[in-house]
Amino acid sequence: MKVGVLTGGGDCPGLNGVIRGVVQVGAIRFGHEHVGLLHGWRGLLEQEQRPLGPADVADILEVGGTILRSSRTNPFKDEGGGEAAVAAFEKLGLDALVAIGGEDTLGVARRLYEEHGLKTIGVPKTIDNDLSGTDYTFGFWSAVQIATENIDRLRTTARSHDRVMVVEVMGRHSGWIANESGIATSADLTLIPEQPVTLEAVVAHVQRLLDQGRDYVMVVASEGVELDTADEGEVDEFGHKQLAKVGVGEQIADAIKDGTGHDTRATVLGHIQRGGSPIAYDRVLSTRFGVRAAELVEEGGFGRMVALRGDDIVDIPLSDAVSELKLVPDDRYRVTSSFWT
Ligand code: F6P
Repeated sequence: MKVGVLTGGGDCPGLNGVIRGVVQVGAIRFGHEHVGLLHGWRGLLEQEQRPLGPADVADILEVGGTILRSSRTNPFKDEGGGEAAVAAFEKLGLDALVAIGGEDTLGVARRLYEEHGLKTIGVPKTIDNDLSGTDYTFGFWSAVQIATENIDRLRTTARSHDRVMVVEVMGRHSGWIANESGIATSADLTLIPEQPVTLEAVVAHVQRLLDQGRDYVMVVASEGVELDTADEGEVDEFGHKQLAKVGVGEQIADAIKDGTGHDTRATVLGHIQRGGSPIAYDRVLSTRFGVRAAELVEEGGFGRMVALRGDDIVDIPLSDAVSELKLVPDDRYRVTSSFWT
């Protein structure tokens, strides 16, 4: 079988681990041949490709980013995009296509399978961990680790200068990174999109801590927290606001500074959370996903996505994975907020 592999959407640590798993296991166990489609769905539409043999992927497991590059191209943005994708698939002589991506990339894989019969298989990636159907996406815990290490650093300088420190982390519309890094760093306040809050309440919380004798305060804020003062960001091809430009952390810091008079700083961790080597957990998870994806190709399990359930790797319909966003449940946030007085 000739198998296309692509990575779409925002990159994250672990993408190369999946590519390695699909290509090496597909070749070794099943005799599959692989071609890398570059820059996500754009690589299929424009037949931008590179050969992908076992030797090409032998030493990439620990390398961050994606050797196949990425983009947020949406084939369905233009009329006839689905048909163009099918034509390109046939022209390339593909028998299957493994799409490694998040909600948007896998949404395209689902539509191409359901509406055009294209033989797609999905692998769930995103630092945001917002895909339903899988307990965790690979890349998420690496991002949490990076956020945790950086919040720890910011705490030492906040302590030295008696400052309130607001740290803005990624996550788009879900607060997973903020919630878990907030727990891991014993943050004094963690703000996530799933738990609406007013700036007034944030200021009151910080003031209370200062009144109790605290010299410095650590606030972790997810970029997607809805504030009544939020600016409108630009939108991408999938219609998502580019939240990092909105500057929620700055707005919260300004409100705290104005409301309490305490020296306050904001730091946006930004794309640092997506860069660098995957932690061991994500190397293992991405490898397990890649191996299962290669097996699914061989079994003809098209229109399906590999997923983690408990400690098991399973496969589920792509439609189950992209039907709704996986948000932070109330009981998980309770672990975070239970420490606040
Ligand atoms: O979806 C992953 C993510 O890193 C989000 O957390 C963030 O909002 C977005 O991508 C940033 O996108 P870009 O790399 O296009 O700025």
